[in-house]
Amino acid sequence: MGEIKSIGVVGGGQMGSGIAQLAAVNGIQVWLHDTDAGALNKALSSISDSIQRFVSKGQLSQEVKAEALRCLRCTSNLEDLAAADIVIEAIVETEDVKKSLFVNLDKIVKKSAILASNTSSISITRLAAATDRPQQVIGMHFMNPPPIMKLVEIVRAADTSEDTFSVTKALAERFGKTVICSQDYSGFVVNRILIPMINEAFHALYSGVATKEDIDTGMKLGTNHPMGPLELADFIGLDVCLSIMKVLHAGLGDTKYAPCPLLVQLVDAGRLGRKRGIGVYNYN
Ligand code: CAA
Ligand code: NAD
Repeated sequence: MGEIKSIGVVGGGQMGSGIAQLAAVNGIQVWLHDTDAGALNKALSSISDSIQRFVSKGQLSQEVKAEALRCLRCTSNLEDLAAADIVIEAIVETEDVKKSLFVNLDKIVKKSAILASNTSSISITRLAAATDRPQQVIGMHFMNPPPIMKLVEIVRAADTSEDTFSVTKALAERFGKTVICSQDYSGFVVNRILIPMINEAFHALYSGVATKEDIDTGMKLGTNHPMGPLELADFIGLDVCLSIMKVLHAGLGDTKYAPCPLLVQLVDAGRLGRKRGIGVYNYN
């Protein structure tokens, strides 16, 4: 396959909207699909605001902004993605839901298209096995927020072809990202290390070691992290953090990956972090 000319993004939440933005500012035609029309409206306005922040700093021109917004189309009909050269999935972090999407996409998109997942931890090999094109399935893991963070972690599944890998890597580099490669094991590289650290911060809070503010300040000023671990958990989404811990626990089989009961309880209470206005902290 040659250069990517058209991209489909599935899931218009914080990650999908950022990935669609990267495609659009690079002049690539992009269809952004979500089952929730409200999410698409929110995605459009956050993309426009985010591009404007780059324009205000002189890092992008008004012309690039206008062209990017022309490249971007939103749809609640998955079939509109039929002509995409690559579809990048960024829906909820639940294996069965992702598998069923991959089965549908496999029927809808052209035979040559690549199916990529932005999953934080779920097996790409199992998603690939749900399709009739396992050689063209790959993990393309962006970091939050995608327009700012410099990394894309590429995950090769058991049968991912060299061509699929090189086209996906070239696309990430066209977006200005540095690529690292990971084997397809639970949590890949970044989340295998980051999310247990976040889980440990919940344990510290749960055991009364310190207040949430002191835990975050300790890690920000003590280790030069831009956000403390609890603040970062709210930023990522507590539901996403919990799903990743469950995948690490099931996939790596060690009790050290068991999710902290406090993290579980906050998710049970619907306190999912910034996106809900409340998580560890209250943003209302
Ligand atoms: N679009 C455009 N610009 C943005 C932006 C966005 N979405 N978000 C932030 N910015 C810009 C701001 O305009 C600002 O620019 P200037 O400094 O030039 O003025 C700059 O980024 C900093 O933003 P803020 O001042 O608003 O806030 P901040 O200093 O706290 O930075 C942050 C925000 C970049 C998110 C920073 O806090 C940070 O790096 N946090 C850690 C993020 C992180 O670790 N992400 C990875 C999470 S793990 C993951 O993604 C994997 C997974 O699977 C869970
Ligand atoms: P989010 O909750 O912000 O957005 C998910 C979106 O997917 C929602 O708008 C929802 O309506 C939509 N959706 C759910 N099921 C769908 C379906 N079947 N078809 C179409 N749309 C559907 O989630 P997010 O934080 O953007 O995470 C999305 C994916 O990216 C997850 O796999 C997550 O693990 C991964 N990820 C998240 C982060 C992060 O920091 N939040 C970082 C990297 C990767």
